[in-house]
Amino acid sequence: MAVSATASRFTEKVCVVTGAGGGIGSAIARRLAREGATVVVCDVDGAAAGKIASEITGEGGTAEVSQFNLAVASACVQVVDEVVARHGHLDVLVNNAGINRRGDLLALSEEGWETSFAINVHPLFHLCRAALPHMASHSGGAIVNTASQWGLQPTPGHIAYNVTKAAVVAFTHSLARDHANQGVRVNAVCPGEIRTPMVEANLVRTGRTVADLDALVPFGRIGTPEEVAALVAFLASDEAPYMCGSIVEITGAQAVS
Ligand SMILES: NC(=O)c1ccc[n+]([C@@H]2O[C@H](COP(=O)([O-])OP(=O)(O)OC[C@H]3O[C@@H](n4cnc5c(N)ncnc54)[C@H](O)[C@@H]3O)[C@@H](O)[C@H]2O)c1
Repeated sequence: MAVSATASRFTEKVCVVTGAGGGIGSAIARRLAREGATVVVCDVDGAAAGKIASEITGEGGTAEVSQFNLAVASACVQVVDEVVARHGHLDVLVNNAGINRRGDLLALSEEGWETSFAINVHPLFHLCRAALPHMASHSGGAIVNTASQWGLQPTPGHIAYNVTKAAVVAFTHSLARDHANQGVRVNAVCPGEIRTPMVEANLVRTGRTVADLDALVPFGRIGTPEEVAALVAFLASDEAPYMCGSIVEITGAQAVS
Protein backbone atom coordinates (compact mmCIF):
# COMPACT_ATOMS: atom_id res chain seq x y z
CA MET A 1 0.00 0.00 0.00
CA ALA A 2 1.33 3.43 -0.89
CA VAL A 3 2.10 5.65 2.06
CA SER A 4 2.05 9.36 1.31
CA ALA A 5 3.74 12.50 2.46
CA THR A 6 3.04 11.68 6.08
CA ALA A 7 5.41 8.72 5.84
CA SER A 8 7.73 9.56 8.71
CA ARG A 9 5.29 10.26 11.51
CA PHE A 10 6.78 7.48 13.67
CA THR A 11 10.52 7.98 13.19
CA GLU A 12 12.30 7.19 16.46
CA LYS A 13 9.03 6.01 18.02
CA VAL A 14 8.69 2.63 19.68
CA CYS A 15 5.28 1.06 19.13
CA VAL A 16 3.85 -2.09 20.73
CA VAL A 17 1.04 -3.75 18.75
CA THR A 18 -0.88 -6.72 20.18
CA GLY A 19 -2.49 -9.29 17.91
CA ALA A 20 0.04 -8.17 15.32
CA GLY A 21 0.18 -11.62 13.77
CA GLY A 22 -3.48 -11.30 12.75
CA GLY A 23 -5.38 -9.47 10.02
CA ILE A 24 -5.81 -5.95 11.38
CA GLY A 25 -2.83 -6.06 13.76
CA SER A 26 -0.38 -7.04 11.02
CA ALA A 27 -1.61 -4.15 8.86
CA ILE A 28 -1.15 -1.77 11.80
CA ALA A 29 2.36 -3.08 12.45
CA ARG A 30 3.31 -2.73 8.77
CA ARG A 31 1.87 0.76 8.55
CA LEU A 32 3.69 2.03 11.64
CA ALA A 33 6.95 0.44 10.48
CA ARG A 34 6.65 1.96 7.01
CA GLU A 35 6.31 5.32 8.73
CA GLY A 36 9.56 4.85 10.62
CA ALA A 37 8.56 3.12 13.86
CA THR A 38 10.34 0.36 15.68
CA VAL A 39 7.42 -2.03 16.02
CA VAL A 40 7.12 -4.74 18.66
CA VAL A 41 5.03 -7.41 16.97
CA CYS A 42 3.16 -9.14 19.82
CA ASP A 43 1.09 -12.28 19.42
CA VAL A 44 0.47 -15.60 21.15
CA ASP A 45 1.12 -17.16 17.74
CA GLY A 46 4.91 -16.85 17.53
CA ALA A 47 5.09 -18.12 13.95
CA ALA A 48 2.58 -15.53 12.74
CA ALA A 49 4.38 -12.76 14.62
CA GLY A 50 7.75 -13.91 13.25
CA LYS A 51 6.43 -13.91 9.69
CA ILE A 52 5.10 -10.35 9.97
CA ALA A 53 8.31 -9.12 11.62
CA SER A 54 10.38 -10.73 8.83
CA GLU A 55 8.23 -9.11 6.18
CA ILE A 56 8.66 -5.73 7.87
CA THR A 57 12.43 -6.07 8.12
CA GLY A 58 12.51 -7.39 4.54
CA GLU A 59 10.93 -4.12 3.45
CA GLY A 60 13.60 -2.15 5.33
CA GLY A 61 11.57 -1.54 8.48
CA THR A 62 12.42 -2.32 12.10
CA ALA A 63 10.49 -4.97 13.98
CA GLU A 64 10.94 -7.15 17.04
CA VAL A 65 8.89 -10.22 17.95
CA SER A 66 7.29 -10.68 21.33
CA GLN A 67 5.46 -13.98 21.70
CA PHE A 68 3.27 -14.14 24.80
CA ASN A 69 -0.24 -14.90 25.96
CA LEU A 70 -2.15 -11.73 26.81
CA ALA A 71 -4.26 -13.68 29.28
CA VAL A 72 -1.20 -13.86 31.56
CA ALA A 73 -1.02 -10.58 33.48
CA SER A 74 2.68 -10.88 34.33
CA ALA A 75 3.51 -11.39 30.64
CA CYS A 76 1.77 -8.12 29.77
CA VAL A 77 3.79 -6.24 32.37
CA GLN A 78 7.00 -7.99 31.31
CA VAL A 79 6.70 -7.01 27.66
CA VAL A 80 6.37 -3.33 28.56
CA ASP A 81 9.26 -3.50 31.02
CA GLU A 82 11.48 -5.22 28.46
CA VAL A 83 10.66 -2.73 25.71
CA VAL A 84 11.43 0.21 28.00
CA ALA A 85 14.66 -1.46 29.18
CA ARG A 86 15.78 -2.02 25.56
CA HIS A 87 14.76 1.32 24.07
CA GLY A 88 14.42 3.72 26.99
CA HIS A 89 10.88 4.67 25.96
CA LEU A 90 7.54 3.40 24.70
CA ASP A 91 5.59 5.88 22.62
CA VAL A 92 2.60 4.02 21.21
CA LEU A 93 0.59 1.07 22.54
CA VAL A 94 -2.01 -0.48 20.24
CA ASN A 95 -4.27 -2.88 22.11
CA ASN A 96 -5.59 -4.69 19.07
CA ALA A 97 -5.78 -8.41 19.89
CA GLY A 98 -9.23 -9.84 20.40
CA ILE A 99 -11.35 -12.94 20.05
CA ASN A 100 -14.98 -13.43 19.06
CA ARG A 101 -16.77 -16.17 20.98
CA ARG A 102 -20.25 -16.55 19.55
CA GLY A 103 -23.47 -17.32 21.43
CA ASP A 104 -26.30 -15.70 23.33
CA LEU A 105 -26.48 -15.94 27.12
CA LEU A 106 -27.78 -19.51 27.08
CA ALA A 107 -25.59 -20.82 24.27
CA LEU A 108 -22.30 -19.33 25.46
CA SER A 109 -20.27 -21.37 27.94
CA GLU A 110 -18.93 -19.89 31.16
CA GLU A 111 -15.47 -20.52 29.73
CA GLY A 112 -16.36 -18.53 26.62
CA TRP A 113 -17.55 -15.60 28.74
CA GLU A 114 -14.47 -15.61 30.95
CA THR A 115 -11.99 -16.12 28.12
CA SER A 116 -13.54 -13.21 26.23
CA PHE A 117 -12.85 -10.92 29.17
CA ALA A 118 -9.40 -12.48 29.72
CA ILE A 119 -8.32 -11.60 26.16
CA ASN A 120 -10.49 -8.64 25.10
CA VAL A 121 -10.50 -6.62 28.33
CA HIS A 122 -8.09 -7.61 31.12
CA PRO A 123 -4.87 -7.15 29.07
CA LEU A 124 -5.78 -3.51 28.50
CA PHE A 125 -5.68 -2.99 32.27
CA HIS A 126 -2.29 -4.68 32.65
CA LEU A 127 -0.60 -3.26 29.53
CA CYS A 128 -1.84 0.29 30.04
CA ARG A 129 -0.98 0.24 33.75
CA ALA A 130 2.55 -0.84 32.89
CA ALA A 131 2.94 1.59 29.96
CA LEU A 132 1.33 4.76 31.30
CA PRO A 133 3.96 5.80 33.85
CA HIS A 134 6.71 5.41 31.22
CA MET A 135 4.76 7.47 28.69
CA ALA A 136 3.91 10.15 31.25
CA SER A 137 7.49 10.49 32.46
CA HIS A 138 8.93 10.56 28.95
CA SER A 139 7.32 12.94 26.47
CA GLY A 140 3.80 11.51 26.60
CA GLY A 141 2.36 8.82 24.40
CA ALA A 142 -0.61 7.44 22.55
CA ILE A 143 -2.77 4.41 23.23
CA VAL A 144 -5.17 3.13 20.59
CA ASN A 145 -7.61 0.35 21.46
CA THR A 146 -9.42 -1.79 18.92
CA ALA A 147 -13.02 -2.01 20.06
CA SER A 148 -15.80 -2.80 17.57
CA GLN A 149 -18.96 -1.29 16.16
CA TRP A 150 -20.68 -4.12 18.06
CA GLY A 151 -19.44 -2.56 21.29
CA LEU A 152 -21.64 0.43 20.47
CA GLN A 153 -24.57 -1.38 18.83
CA PRO A 154 -24.77 -5.01 19.97
CA THR A 155 -25.39 -7.62 17.32
CA PRO A 156 -27.59 -10.62 18.19
CA GLY A 157 -25.98 -13.85 19.35
CA HIS A 158 -22.60 -12.43 20.41
CA ILE A 159 -23.14 -11.36 24.02
CA ALA A 160 -19.54 -11.86 25.17
CA TYR A 161 -18.07 -10.00 22.21
CA ASN A 162 -20.58 -7.13 22.42
CA VAL A 163 -20.09 -6.67 26.16
CA THR A 164 -16.29 -6.93 26.13
CA LYS A 165 -16.05 -4.44 23.27
CA ALA A 166 -18.40 -2.07 25.13
CA ALA A 167 -15.96 -2.44 28.04
CA VAL A 168 -13.10 -1.43 25.73
CA VAL A 169 -15.06 1.70 24.79
CA ALA A 170 -15.72 2.59 28.46
CA PHE A 171 -12.12 1.81 29.39
CA THR A 172 -10.92 4.15 26.63
CA HIS A 173 -13.11 7.04 27.81
CA SER A 174 -12.14 6.48 31.41
CA LEU A 175 -8.41 6.21 30.81
CA ALA A 176 -8.41 9.27 28.54
CA ARG A 177 -10.17 11.40 31.14
CA ASP A 178 -7.84 10.29 33.92
CA HIS A 179 -4.55 10.70 32.04
CA ALA A 180 -4.98 13.36 29.34
CA ASN A 181 -3.30 15.84 31.66
CA GLN A 182 -0.19 13.63 31.68
CA GLY A 183 0.26 13.88 27.91
CA VAL A 184 -1.14 10.43 27.21
CA ARG A 185 -3.83 10.35 24.52
CA VAL A 186 -6.17 7.37 24.56
CA ASN A 187 -8.56 6.63 21.69
CA ALA A 188 -10.39 3.64 20.24
CA VAL A 189 -11.44 2.49 16.81
CA CYS A 190 -14.69 0.65 16.18
CA PRO A 191 -14.47 -1.28 12.92
CA GLY A 192 -17.46 -2.81 11.17
CA GLU A 193 -16.84 -5.90 9.03
CA ILE A 194 -13.19 -6.02 7.97
CA ARG A 195 -11.83 -8.77 5.77
CA THR A 196 -9.53 -10.73 8.09
CA PRO A 197 -9.09 -14.36 9.19
CA MET A 198 -11.61 -13.67 12.00
CA VAL A 199 -14.31 -12.75 9.47
CA GLU A 200 -13.27 -15.43 6.96
CA ALA A 201 -13.59 -18.12 9.67
CA ASN A 202 -17.13 -16.92 10.27
CA LEU A 203 -17.90 -17.12 6.53
CA VAL A 204 -16.77 -20.74 6.45
CA ARG A 205 -19.05 -21.45 9.41
CA THR A 206 -22.12 -19.73 7.95
CA GLY A 207 -21.64 -20.67 4.29
CA ARG A 208 -21.82 -17.00 3.27
CA THR A 209 -19.39 -15.29 0.90
CA VAL A 210 -17.50 -12.00 0.98
CA ALA A 211 -19.90 -10.80 -1.74
CA ASP A 212 -22.80 -11.46 0.65
CA LEU A 213 -21.14 -9.22 3.24
CA ASP A 214 -20.23 -6.58 0.65
CA ALA A 215 -23.91 -6.32 -0.31
CA LEU A 216 -24.82 -5.33 3.27
CA VAL A 217 -22.55 -2.29 3.30
CA PRO A 218 -23.82 1.03 1.88
CA PHE A 219 -20.29 1.77 0.69
CA GLY A 220 -20.49 -1.38 -1.45
CA ARG A 221 -17.88 -3.53 0.25
CA ILE A 222 -16.51 -4.56 3.62
CA GLY A 223 -13.38 -2.83 4.87
CA THR A 224 -9.73 -3.77 4.62
CA PRO A 225 -7.19 -4.11 7.44
CA GLU A 226 -5.12 -1.38 5.76
CA GLU A 227 -8.00 1.07 6.08
CA VAL A 228 -8.22 0.42 9.82
CA ALA A 229 -4.43 0.66 10.08
CA ALA A 230 -4.47 4.11 8.45
CA LEU A 231 -6.96 5.31 11.07
CA VAL A 232 -4.99 3.81 13.95
CA ALA A 233 -1.79 5.41 12.64
CA PHE A 234 -3.50 8.80 12.45
CA LEU A 235 -4.83 8.53 16.01
CA ALA A 236 -1.41 7.43 17.28
CA SER A 237 0.44 10.20 15.45
CA ASP A 238 1.27 13.79 16.32
CA GLU A 239 -1.23 14.80 13.62
CA ALA A 240 -3.98 14.07 16.13
CA PRO A 241 -2.85 16.09 19.19
CA TYR A 242 -6.39 16.97 20.29
CA MET A 243 -7.86 13.50 19.68
CA CYS A 244 -8.25 12.07 23.17
CA GLY A 245 -11.10 9.95 24.49
CA SER A 246 -12.48 9.58 20.96
CA ILE A 247 -14.28 6.48 19.77
CA VAL A 248 -14.03 6.40 15.98
CA GLU A 249 -16.25 4.13 13.89
CA ILE A 250 -14.97 2.80 10.57
CA THR A 251 -17.84 0.94 8.94
CA GLY A 252 -18.55 2.07 5.37
CA ALA A 253 -21.83 3.41 6.83
CA GLN A 254 -23.03 -0.09 7.65
CA ALA A 255 -25.62 -0.42 10.42
CA VAL A 256 -25.42 -3.39 12.76
CA SER A 257 -27.84 -6.11 11.69
N1 LIG B 1 -12.29 -8.34 11.51
C1 LIG B 1 -13.32 -7.59 11.83
O1 LIG B 1 -14.30 -7.50 11.07
C2 LIG B 1 -13.32 -6.82 13.12
C3 LIG B 1 -14.37 -5.92 13.34
C4 LIG B 1 -14.37 -5.18 14.51
C5 LIG B 1 -13.37 -5.33 15.44
N2 LIG B 1 -12.37 -6.23 15.19
C6 LIG B 1 -11.34 -6.34 16.22
O2 LIG B 1 -10.08 -6.14 15.62
C7 LIG B 1 -9.07 -6.85 16.33
C8 LIG B 1 -8.26 -7.70 15.37
O3 LIG B 1 -9.15 -8.59 14.74
P1 LIG B 1 -8.74 -9.42 13.44
O4 LIG B 1 -9.97 -9.50 12.61
O5 LIG B 1 -7.48 -8.90 12.88
O6 LIG B 1 -8.54 -10.86 14.11
P2 LIG B 1 -7.44 -11.98 13.85
O7 LIG B 1 -8.04 -13.22 14.43
O8 LIG B 1 -6.98 -11.97 12.44
O9 LIG B 1 -6.23 -11.48 14.76
C9 LIG B 1 -6.27 -11.53 16.16
C10 LIG B 1 -4.85 -11.82 16.64
O10 LIG B 1 -4.87 -11.83 18.08
C11 LIG B 1 -4.05 -12.89 18.52
N3 LIG B 1 -4.45 -13.34 19.84
C12 LIG B 1 -5.60 -13.98 20.17
N4 LIG B 1 -5.57 -14.35 21.45
C13 LIG B 1 -4.38 -13.91 21.96
C14 LIG B 1 -3.77 -14.00 23.23
N5 LIG B 1 -4.36 -14.64 24.25
N6 LIG B 1 -2.54 -13.44 23.41
C15 LIG B 1 -1.94 -12.81 22.40
N7 LIG B 1 -2.45 -12.72 21.14
C16 LIG B 1 -3.68 -13.26 20.94
C17 LIG B 1 -4.27 -14.00 17.50
O11 LIG B 1 -3.24 -14.96 17.51
C18 LIG B 1 -4.37 -13.21 16.21
O12 LIG B 1 -3.12 -13.12 15.55
C19 LIG B 1 -9.82 -7.66 17.41
O13 LIG B 1 -9.81 -6.97 18.63
C20 LIG B 1 -11.22 -7.71 16.85
O14 LIG B 1 -12.18 -7.91 17.86
C21 LIG B 1 -12.32 -6.98 14.06
